[in-house]
Amino acid sequence: MANKTKETYKFLLMDSIKIFAPATVANVACGFDIFGFAVDAPGDEVIVRKRTDKQIVITQITGDEGKLTYDISKNTVSVPILKYLQYTQISEGFDIELHKKMPLGSGLGSSSASSVAGVFAVNELLGKPLVSKDLLPFSMEGERVACGSAHADNVAPALLGGFVVVRSYNPLDVFKVPTPSELFVTIVHPDIEVNTKDARHILRNEVSMKNTIAQMGNVAGMIAGLMQADYQLIANSMIDFIIEPVRAILIPEFFEVKNAALDAGALGCSISGAGPSIFAFSKGLETAEKVGIAMKSSFEKVGIIANAYVSGINQEGPKIIG
Ligand code: HSE
Repeated sequence: MANKTKETYKFLLMDSIKIFAPATVANVACGFDIFGFAVDAPGDEVIVRKRTDKQIVITQITGDEGKLTYDISKNTVSVPILKYLQYTQISEGFDIELHKKMPLGSGLGSSSASSVAGVFAVNELLGKPLVSKDLLPFSMEGERVACGSAHADNVAPALLGGFVVVRSYNPLDVFKVPTPSELFVTIVHPDIEVNTKDARHILRNEVSMKNTIAQMGNVAGMIAGLMQADYQLIANSMIDFIIEPVRAILIPEFFEVKNAALDAGALGCSISGAGPSIFAFSKGLETAEKVGIAMKSSFEKVGIIANAYVSGINQEGPKIIG
């Protein structure tokens, strides 16, 4: 308790803070809008400084090629902060610097990383009036301005770290699932942009009973596989009967890249979030790296430039880096 007081006091003395919040893979094949996990890199960085007046100002944005707005009522970094200040009835002013360290519209949870970093920074600067989990509804508001839907499958793992399940949206209920230590992810991002709003728009509203049953089996299998470190069960569960067949058309070479990942030894492979990034799970770092080379070269064979990232499952979520 004494330590906690000392820690809080230290933060109250701080005038500025720099936060890293991680990229995330949402959906994870079978769990549309309910599964997501955080990776070690890439991630966004946000610097928040206290002001002497009560204004909220975005002072600098880098890494966005000029695409993001400085309007605080429309930017994913500031909207969660405004909602947070409104809810807590704290009237303080902050300058915000947003440094995008990952591409926009990439399927890597770019908007979520910014949303989480901003509100996490403010909560820290104010001496943590709320625990991390309570920041989730505010972070989700950033997602709403980014793509018109306040889904939590990127925001929750970016905020809490680890593999997160959104059990319910109303009421909001999320929980973490432990992941096996040898589970690694490879993410390959082709140099094309997919707008999340469009990728949601093309989805059908009805799902057949047959596909619902098959998908529910895989959702249950994925959770059990992760908890029991059963890599074969994880592999068997990485089939998406509902979303991937519709969205695959948005990603050139999707099936070729997926086959390349499976041939190189991946447990399974699917679209990361709304795409165009494609992710694969592997057992072991070495296989995950081989899978990355295979996926990247599959894109490059047809002239599409792609970046590959390999990571374990990031259990930490946002962190203070300055
Ligand atoms: N679950 C979301 C989707 C993640 O697939 O549309 C993208 O933000």
